[in-house]
Amino acid sequence: MVYAAITGIGASIPKDVLTNEELSKIVDTNDEWIMTRVGIKERHILKGEGKGVSVMGTEAVNELLEKTNVKPEDIEVVIFATTTPDYGFPAAAVLVAEACGIKNAFAFDIQAACSGFIYALEVASNFIRSGRYKKVIVVAGDKMSSITNYKDRTTCPLFGDAVGAVLLEPTEEKLGIVDTILHTDGVGIPHLNMKGGGSAYPASAETIANDMHYVYQEGQPVFKHAVTKMADVSAEIAERNQLSKDDIDWFIPHQANIRIIEAAAKRLSLPAEKVIINIENYGNTSAGTIPVCLYEYEKKFKKGDNIILAAFGAGFTWGSVYLKWAY
Ligand code: UT7
Repeated sequence: MVYAAITGIGASIPKDVLTNEELSKIVDTNDEWIMTRVGIKERHILKGEGKGVSVMGTEAVNELLEKTNVKPEDIEVVIFATTTPDYGFPAAAVLVAEACGIKNAFAFDIQAACSGFIYALEVASNFIRSGRYKKVIVVAGDKMSSITNYKDRTTCPLFGDAVGAVLLEPTEEKLGIVDTILHTDGVGIPHLNMKGGGSAYPASAETIANDMHYVYQEGQPVFKHAVTKMADVSAEIAERNQLSKDDIDWFIPHQANIRIIEAAAKRLSLPAEKVIINIENYGNTSAGTIPVCLYEYEKKFKKGDNIILAAFGAGFTWGSVYLKWAY
C-alpha cells in the first residue's frame, strides 16, 4: 500500500499588517467586538500594483523547493487551491510553475473556497497513490484583500492574505494522508458567495455599483453550519480510524472564527494544547489557514504524530483529513 506523505512545507506571509485599530478608523468597529466575536487582532495584506496570489504562491514554492532540496524540473504536478487566482485564466498554478522554473509538470487550480487545501490534498494524494506520480506540490491560499469590501464592517475584519505549499511524495510506511472525508452541499450558495466577475455576471458598471465583486456573507447561517459540520466531520474521521482523544496529537481546524474552532475542539474533547490556533495574527486566509498552521508548527511535529485537519467554506464545502506526520 502506497501513502502520500507531506515531505516539506513552505509559506508566504505578506509583511504589511492591518490591525483592528486601523480598521476601526475605516469602518464602525472596534478591537473588543472583533476579538470577542471572532478572535482576530491583525491580518496580513499583500500590497502592490498587479501583485496577485501567485506572488505568494511563488514565494511559498521556492521556499519549499529549497528546504526539501528538490529541483523544480523534478516536480510532476502543481495544484493551486485558491478562490482568488491572479486572472480569469490561465490558472494561478501555471503562473507559479512558470515563476519557479517548474517545466516538466502539469499545473491547474482547484476552487473549493476555504476547504481548498483539504480538497487539493485528496486529489494530490490519489495522484501519488495511483503510482503514476512521485512529486506533487499543493499550493493553497488566497489574497482575500482583493475581494474584501473595506466599507462593510460585517466582512472586512474577517479576512487576510497568505499562502502555504506542501510537497507530497510516496511512502510504503503508514504515514501521510491516511484518510479523508469531503462533503459539498449547495444549501450554502445563497449565504456565502461572490456573484460578479464570473460568466453569469461579467464585470460591468452595474456589477461594480452593486458591490458584486466582493465576498457576500450572511454570517449567522454560515456560522451555524460551520459549527456543526466541522465538529461532526472531525468526530467522524476520528471514530472511523479508532482515534481516541489521547491518540490525536494535533487538531488543525480552518481559522474563520475562534468560537467555531473551540466548538469543534470541544466535540473531540481535546485539551487546548493540542489545538492549533493562529487566527489572532492572520484572520481567515481561506485556503491558506491550514497550511500556514502546518508551517508555523512544523518544528513541533514528530514523525508519526496523528494530526486531524478540518475545514469549512463556501458552497458549502467541508471535510476532514487524518494525517500522520512523516518527518
Ligand atoms: O471561512 C468561511 C466560512 N465562514 C465562517 O465560518 C464565518 C461564520 N460566521 C461568523 O464567524 C460570524 O457569524 C461573524 C463573525 C461573521 C459575525 O458574528 P456574529 O456573532 O454572528 O454577529 P452578528 O452578525 O449576529 O452581528 C451581531 C451584531 C449586529 O448588531 P445588532 O444587530 O445586534 O445591533 C451587527 O450589526 O454585531 C454587529 N456587527 C459589528 N459590530 C462591530 C457586525 N459586524 C460588526 C463589527 N463591529 N465589525
